Amino acid sequence: MAYSLLYVSKTLLQFPADGAEVAKIVEGSLARNANLGVTGALISTGQHFAQVLEGKQAAVDELMASISTDPRHMKVKIIRVVEEDRRFPDWALAYSGMAGVVDRHIAPLFSPLPESEATHLAMRLLGMMEEFARIQAG
Ligand SMILES: Cc1cc2nc3c(=O)[nH]c(=O)nc-3n(C[C@H](O)[C@H](O)[C@H](O)COP(=O)(O)O)c2cc1C
Repeated sequence: MAYSLLYVSKTLLQFPADGAEVAKIVEGSLARNANLGVTGALISTGQHFAQVLEGKQAAVDELMASISTDPRHMKVKIIRVVEEDRRFPDWALAYSGMAGVVDRHIAPLFSPLPESEATHLAMRLLGMMEEFARIQAG
């Protein structure tokens, strides 16, 4: 079992000009996440990010301390924290490029929602992130 956290945030990057910046984030994350024994996935829609981080709680917390103060995004909102089996055991950070169509599944999570609705949206988003990682794995 792993401590698993899902958050969403609003990007402060401008696309397409800052497109390479996301690749830079992912590149920099691979070694640090692997060193910390953290796995997960990142989605960028051009407007928002969604990220799953899973591992030891101390390691995930350490990463979140960096990530939540990163000036490349704001309004970091933690959506779901659970102990569960890793969803991305083979990925230091799965990322499959810009996914604009997913934005309509992320944007509503910034509004106050009944817990059942938020859980429903979060599970659907997680399913998509897993699907992207599977496609990327081939
Ligand atoms: C949306 C987003 C996701 C990020 N995800 C990770 C990550 O999974 N792992 C990581 O090491 N850094 C990640 N970063 C970068 C960190 O915020 C930070 O810049 C980097 O870890 C260096 O940390 P430091 O400035 O505390 O040394 C992410 C940044 C953003 C904007």
